[in-house]
Amino acid sequence: MISVIVAVAQNNVIGRDNKLLWHISEDLKRFKKITSNKKMIMGRKTFESLPGVLPNREHIVVTRDENYNVNSDQVTIIHDLNLLLEKYLNCEDEIFVIGGAEIYKQLLPYAQKLYLTKIGTSFDGDTYFPEVNYNNYKTEYISEQLTDEKNGLNYTFIDLTRI
Ligand SMILES: NC(=O)c1ccc[n+]([C@@H]2O[C@H](COP(=O)([O-])OP(=O)(O)OC[C@H]3O[C@@H](n4cnc5c(N)ncnc54)[C@H](OP(=O)(O)O)[C@@H]3O)[C@@H](O)[C@H]2O)c1
Repeated sequence: MISVIVAVAQNNVIGRDNKLLWHISEDLKRFKKITSNKKMIMGRKTFESLPGVLPNREHIVVTRDENYNVNSDQVTIIHDLNLLLEKYLNCEDEIFVIGGAEIYKQLLPYAQKLYLTKIGTSFDGDTYFPEVNYNNYKTEYISEQLTDEKNGLNYTFIDLTRI
């Protein structure tokens, strides 16, 4: 089963200059909790934006570069999203698509679950989460509106399941 996890600004921005535009410590904790001991699928650019290989998670990095190589047994490189779909679409384990925009766009149609962090502020960015047709999903969980103590950003956690 394929799931998507994303933090998205009010105007659907998810990043700029291959970086996140906010730091919400509770969101990072939620990301860690949800993805720990799971497989994470990501574009090569998102992989390179990480501070390093994240512990206790398998990283599946998508690139068209046949020579791309990462020296870590936690990282698998793949070149063909169709092969990935064949392998994981119907598997019982939850596999997490963690971005970025290019990969969300291609894999969102296959996601059974969405784990959203909706930030109540718009940002000036260069990468956007694709439009979601919320009619296709039911809400499994919605948190109260939370506020980051350090930067004052309001945000809400929402888990959706495809109907
Ligand atoms: N807010 C969030 O939750 C969140 C989460 C993740 C990322 N982000 C942000 O999103 C931005 C990065 O997103 P992005 O769209 O620029 O890049 P990306 O989706 O992370 O990576 C794009 C790369 O993936 C590879 N790729 C894409 N489609 C492919 C396919 N069909 N087959 C093989 N390889 C494929 C290509 O790599 P090659 O060029 O190597 O061929 C492409 O350049 C950053 O700003 C990051 O901070 C935000």
